[in-house]
Amino acid sequence: MSAGYNVEDWGPVHAIPTYHRAGAGERTAPYGTPEHPIPLIIDSDPGLDDALAIGLACASPEIRLLAVTTVGGNADVTRCTENALRLLHAYGRDDVPVAEGAAGAILGDVVRATEVHGTSGIGTTQLPEAPNQALPEGAVALIARLLAESPEPVAIAPIGPLTNIALVLRIHPHLASKISHLCLMGGSIGEGNTTASAEFNILADPEAADVVFRSGVPITMIGLDVTHQALLDRRASQRLRDTGTRSGAIAAELTDYALDRNLEWSGSLTTAIHDAVAIAHLLSPDMVAVARYHVVVDTGHGPARGRTVCDGLPFRLRRKGMEANADVGILIERSRFEDLLVNAFAKLP
Ligand code: BDR
Ligand code: CA
Repeated sequence: MSAGYNVEDWGPVHAIPTYHRAGAGERTAPYGTPEHPIPLIIDSDPGLDDALAIGLACASPEIRLLAVTTVGGNADVTRCTENALRLLHAYGRDDVPVAEGAAGAILGDVVRATEVHGTSGIGTTQLPEAPNQALPEGAVALIARLLAESPEPVAIAPIGPLTNIALVLRIHPHLASKISHLCLMGGSIGEGNTTASAEFNILADPEAADVVFRSGVPITMIGLDVTHQALLDRRASQRLRDTGTRSGAIAAELTDYALDRNLEWSGSLTTAIHDAVAIAHLLSPDMVAVARYHVVVDTGHGPARGRTVCDGLPFRLRRKGMEANADVGILIERSRFEDLLVNAFAKLP
């Protein structure tokens, strides 16, 4: 009945998007533990799934959240900033600084996903005003300062377009070594979601993504191949509501909004919580399986603009003298992912 992208609906035979199906390998991303929480900056365009990702980070003792920086993407950047401030307030984390970043792509057109996330970025959810304001120094300067000041390397989870991260790498190249890992949500080995070629976050700023993938900084690409397995349905949103917390009710409302959109467009009964997978990977050693790929971003202006071309075939890489530059997410344990979110929102206010 569904023409949607939910793996459950694909039936026994479906197109295999790649010739080479890489096997899972060792992860290179660090992960936090309650004893040694991982210092993390989230760069985000909240966003329905961003909101759940930020909540997951806020609730997890495996993560020491240093800041949330914003970028225009799902909605205009000023809305995204307001959403970040209000979400952190709702999650009881006014201690986490917020700074606003790029309004749009470095070179290309401004792309928005308001048809998915609503004009506000968070559907129809109304959040109480936050006492804090965004820091005047801006996202790029804040990320640079936090990297410079940190005694240990810091992980970054970019879960929106990569504009701010590319600017940090270009303006402060000496700080690249202070980034322990970029665990980004974006791209796909197979088909895109915004175009047949491209996933939204990469299409929204392909030139920035190109800078990031060429940077030499260790990268995990949490793309659609794995996030389309990280699905919530009505039962899961009810579980979030049943946590009885205000934050759980917010997460449920945001998930319901996404579920309504998917049902309307494709008859799907589930929604992918893309961005939370990037956070889950940083707090669990084995929930997400990854494979090594050489990832190149198509910055042309044809139909493949924004595509992440992922090559994992060993003999081809050898022949071209290429090294893999990213771990790419290929598998997630869906039920563990759902439990992780529910347990996180049960702990929040
Ligand atoms: C990505 O695009 C955005 O709409 C979501 O927040 C997520 O980061 C999925 O393609
Ligand atoms: Ca996002």
